[in-house]
Amino acid sequence: MGLHAVSYKDQMGASSSAIFLPFVSLVVLVSWATSSSIHENFLQCLSLNSNHTTPISNVLYTPKNLSYSAILESTIENLRFSSSATPKPLLILTPLHVSHIQAAVICSKKYGMNIRVRSGGHDYEGLSYVSEIPFIIIDLVELRSINISIEDGTAWVEAGATVGEVYYRIAQKSRTYGFPAGSCPTVGVGGHFSGGGYGTLMRKYGLSADNIIDAYIVVSDGRVLNRESMGEDLFWAIRGGGGASFGIILSWKIKLVPVPPIVTVFTVGRTLEQGALKVFLKWQQVGSRLQEDIFIGATFGAVSGSQEGERTIEVSFKSLFLGNTSQLLSLMKKSFPELGLEAKDCLEMSWIESVLYYTDLSGEPVNVLLNRIPQFKNYFKAKSDYVQEPISETGLQGVWKMLYQEEAGIMILSPYGGRMNEISETEVPFPHRKGNLYKIQYLVSWDEEGDRVSQKRINWIRKLYAYMAPYVSKFPRAAYLNYRDLDLGINKLKGNTSYAQASIWGIKYFSCNFNRLVHVKTKVDPSNFFRNEQSIPSLSPWWKN
Ligand SMILES: Cc1cc2nc3c(=O)[nH]c(=O)nc-3n(C[C@H](O)[C@H](O)[C@H](O)COP(=O)(O)OP(=O)(O)OC[C@H]3O[C@@H](n4cnc5c(N)ncnc54)[C@H](O)[C@@H]3O)c2cc1C
Ligand SMILES: *[C@@H]1O[C@H](CO)[C@@H](O)[C@H](O)[C@H]1NC(C)=O
Ligand SMILES: *[C@@H]1O[C@H](CO)[C@@H](O)[C@H](O)[C@H]1NC(C)=O
Ligand SMILES: *[C@@H]1O[C@H](CO)[C@@H](O)[C@H](O)[C@H]1NC(C)=O
Ligand SMILES: *[C@@H]1O[C@H](CO)[C@@H](O)[C@H](O)[C@H]1NC(C)=O
Ligand SMILES: *[C@@H]1O[C@H](CO)[C@@H](O)[C@H](O)[C@H]1NC(C)=O
Repeated sequence: MGLHAVSYKDQMGASSSAIFLPFVSLVVLVSWATSSSIHENFLQCLSLNSNHTTPISNVLYTPKNLSYSAILESTIENLRFSSSATPKPLLILTPLHVSHIQAAVICSKKYGMNIRVRSGGHDYEGLSYVSEIPFIIIDLVELRSINISIEDGTAWVEAGATVGEVYYRIAQKSRTYGFPAGSCPTVGVGGHFSGGGYGTLMRKYGLSADNIIDAYIVVSDGRVLNRESMGEDLFWAIRGGGGASFGIILSWKIKLVPVPPIVTVFTVGRTLEQGALKVFLKWQQVGSRLQEDIFIGATFGAVSGSQEGERTIEVSFKSLFLGNTSQLLSLMKKSFPELGLEAKDCLEMSWIESVLYYTDLSGEPVNVLLNRIPQFKNYFKAKSDYVQEPISETGLQGVWKMLYQEEAGIMILSPYGGRMNEISETEVPFPHRKGNLYKIQYLVSWDEEGDRVSQKRINWIRKLYAYMAPYVSKFPRAAYLNYRDLDLGINKLKGNTSYAQASIWGIKYFSCNFNRLVHVKTKVDPSNFFRNEQSIPSLSPWWKN
């Protein structure tokens, strides 16, 4: 019996001491009383180990608390992991203070509870709030202060903040500072920065992880460490290796980056009839070679054609340029005339307005960035690839064919180059640097509930991924951790993860950095306390292949 098929209610109803002990089969049924008293002991342990003036019970929700479901669902971004069949946490903690987190770590270790940490809840596979073994959620919603120092050009940001909150707070203080991170404002900095984090400033300044200069983290023995006390190995690992394998990140110190007071944006779509193929072939050549002040993303999707009932493919180019319209037009005329960009396509604005523009919130007041709850929630599945050689025309014809088959499917292409070429692939665990023309995200999303529709969509995206194999990076076929994809392989949560098993997906995400991540993990979390389906494995001394 796999826990994944069992709702929380069933877990409690069937009840078992195994709920509180990892590695033990749930088939062993014991009386409710036993598990209930372990539950009581766990709660008591939390109180005993937390000496903050706010008692931990004030921030602790069991399924009996009325707001348990509302809190659980609040930031679930992917509805695939929000059904009644999704395993639910035994409790949710919304810490107000680090001592609440330390108590949770100490007691979870003592009672064999798996911990899932949630910042923004945007994990593509729900790993921040779903586990197949008994677990609690530490939701960092209350830990989201942001302190900006314009004088130093730095900021301290608590892990529960969203990137929208970070952008907003920066813009409140300055028009000429920004930060390189993702375009979706409700993404949390806990997961996003620790997995890389890219957006429209990537070609100029690299990833979020490239611009982190200090951090606080709670590790598996409950200690709180900063850069100096954690040492450079662990500090390296949490900037792109995924925070969840190493501890609970409390806050980041980031380096703000300069942006001009005026930037220019545009979105230009071309269908196949309008010559999209030729424009795209040129984009493949120049997208990663243009000067680093410009980012031109491309999105593929099937749309209605000019004739009734007819379908075509549209390639949509969306751009941020760190300069004014006249500079942009002369750059495009020289390097990418095929797009046919005109002054009327261009909009000048402040950098913070470009953040709204990029996430389709133009015209909204800037404080819309403070909304933590995603604008849209739907069911989705995504996968990622890196392209190192331009895809041939024949290759693209096959892509169009696949896109015609699934109206809800798109491909989002992000050009690399610029600063990404200058940073060494071992600087932080994120290895995808020089040599990449662009990254592809395949995405299919839908609104209807049910297995049938979900299987159909997921099968389609897997087929597309299989089709793309000849055109993308090989040995390894690289993938982006923040576009988490459990199809690449998973750890066994109920046993010990083998290095060989984990390296299948580990090398795709981290390439040559995987080994160093395993080494750091083994040093800082030898008992593999912080674990999930794709956490870095810990090599125990008794480990044998
Ligand atoms: C709509 C949408 C748009 C996106 N846009 C972009 C984009 O433009 N660029 C980009 O790079 N990515 C993007 N992403 C992907 C995003 O970067 C990842 O999903 C990221 O991991 C989300 O972080 P989170 O804190 O919101 O997620 P969570 O689900 O809270 O966490 C993700 C993972 O990090 C762990 N984690 C979270 N907080 C902590 C912490 N404090 N300490 C230790 N571990 C922690 C979780 O346990 C989980 O394993 C997008 C995702 C979505 C859903
Ligand atoms: C709380 O616990 C910490 C660590 O055990 C200890 O250093 C601190 O003095 C305690 N504070 C109070 C108010 O008891
Ligand atoms: C949840 O319920 C328990 C038991 O009734 C209570 O002690 C706790 O304070 C409640 N939590 C919150 C956050 O209200
Ligand atoms: C920001 O400053 C406040 C007040 O000094 C402090 O309580 C908070 O912890 C700080 N936040 C960060 C992320 O350092
Ligand atoms: C655009 O920027 C350039 C370089 O800063 C400047 O010389 C030029 O005057 C600007 N053009 C307009 C129309 O503002
Ligand atoms: C897993 O590792 C633990 C030590 O953390 C060891 O005691 C146990 O025997 C191992 N279990 C399996 C199934 O290999």
